[in-house]
Amino acid sequence: PESMLFSYRGVLYPATISSPETLEALKSFETRSDDVILAGYPKTGTNWLDQMVKELESTDAKYTEEEMKERINAEKKLEIFPRLELGDPGIYERMKKMPSRRIILTHLPPHLLPSSVLQSKAKILVLVRNPKDTAVSYYHFYNNMPVLPSFTSWDEYFAAFMNGKLTWGSYFDHLVEWNKYIDHEKIMVISYEELKEDQVLGMKKIAAFFGFSLCEEDFHRIAKKTSFQAMKEKSNETHGKFGDILFRKGVVGNWRQFFSKAQNEEMDRKFEECLGGTKLAAKMKYDVYCK
Ligand code: A3P
Repeated sequence: PESMLFSYRGVLYPATISSPETLEALKSFETRSDDVILAGYPKTGTNWLDQMVKELESTDAKYTEEEMKERINAEKKLEIFPRLELGDPGIYERMKKMPSRRIILTHLPPHLLPSSVLQSKAKILVLVRNPKDTAVSYYHFYNNMPVLPSFTSWDEYFAAFMNGKLTWGSYFDHLVEWNKYIDHEKIMVISYEELKEDQVLGMKKIAAFFGFSLCEEDFHRIAKKTSFQAMKEKSNETHGKFGDILFRKGVVGNWRQFFSKAQNEEMDRKFEECLGGTKLAAKMKYDVYCK
């Protein structure tokens, strides 16, 4: 199972969908100032955010049916992977042919992103989720995805999560890194939990950040279209059972069914040690969602 993964600059990646050559080629990726960049550690709700932002962007752009088709076809024709760091090394050359505005998703933390991403004017929306639910979600994903090795028990997995021995590395390191950028004007942080609590309000913040203009009705339409149930049904239609893996529960607080008392305390300590007193911790409302 170890051969299912490879390590690049100290971080693990799935070997069937990426390679050291791809990550090497990633350095050549050219950011456009109007790229819409979405960054989030795996299982923080990145597919949900992607869908929402695609809807917000296309509503703002008022693409014609023809243009919409062209955008979807371009992704297929160019064999663009749904994550910036996945695919073959030729992907960055092909991405040059994608029509603007490109919506680009990544699980990478700032120091592993190509330098042009942080240097350009392109805005970056960072998605965070409380680490306990993120850990539980990733556990199920790891054990259900054929491209990832399985763990024999939750306890074994938990140790790997705490030590950052998972694909895309340590979630705590990600958070510590993004916290350093929290005041940059081209960066905004949004949490899974605030989107769950009031999706329309969350989407209004996202639209304001990217400069998308939509009317009240649009936000409600998009919230409906990207609800957990709606997205799960759509995914089941196209992907069959795979939809059940991607759309597992979609709730806040599922961690309570998995964490032992000791694991709970260990994570509280670790979070405090890494992020205690930071703006990002306040934004994530750790005390509300993890206690
Ligand atoms: P759970 O495993 O806790 O259910 P990612 O897309 O980054 O892989 O994140 C997956 C997590 O987001 C899963 O969490 C999934 O259920 C949840 N999710 C996906 N679509 C969602 C939606 N429309 N609303 C709420 N949660 C959603």
